[in-house]
Amino acid sequence: VPDNCIQDFCVANLNSSISVNGFPCKPDAEVTSHDFFFDGFSKEGNTTNVFGSRVTPGNVLTFPGLNTLGISMNRVDFAPGGLNPPHSHPRASETGVVIQGKLLVGFITTGNVYHSKVLTAGQMFVVPKGLVHFQLNVGEGKAHAFTAFNSHLPGAAVLPLNLFASAPAIPNGVLTKAFQVEDDVINAIKSKFGS
Ligand code: GLV
Ligand code: MN
Repeated sequence: VPDNCIQDFCVANLNSSISVNGFPCKPDAEVTSHDFFFDGFSKEGNTTNVFGSRVTPGNVLTFPGLNTLGISMNRVDFAPGGLNPPHSHPRASETGVVIQGKLLVGFITTGNVYHSKVLTAGQMFVVPKGLVHFQLNVGEGKAHAFTAFNSHLPGAAVLPLNLFASAPAIPNGVLTKAFQVEDDVINAIKSKFGS
């Protein structure tokens, strides 16, 4: 067994034709210091969208050096009033720290208990694995936070987009029954997301 059988790192080869549940490693000879540093968080994300927020991911797809290490981060920017909409991460717990502004941070347990707090710079939160959560900018100005995950690719199921902007669309009959409303309400919501 070669002594590099368990490796210090496995910088992702994002272009491999090998299909596994993850990315294979770049050959050692091709690994450079560049693979272990990521510049993507130095700029504010563009919050000009319906939600008024932007998640900039620092995960294995943007920062291949994270591959197999079980960690990643996001930068999340908020316009005044901006919302990072209710979503869940199927593969990770999340922790985060507010850097600027004032955020209402909330999550809902599988027992439908809602936990929330308004956080300002320097304050931290945790969202247990898989639970639905959001952050809303309740301050006067912009806000931003950094979040961290115990997965190199936590995934995100964004509820409004999952339910109302999937392709192909979920049949209205499912959504009218689930939310106990008429077709026009479902159509109005779907139309907001361009479907
Ligand atoms: C915030 O909830 C994030 O997923 O970065
Ligand atoms: Mn999240």
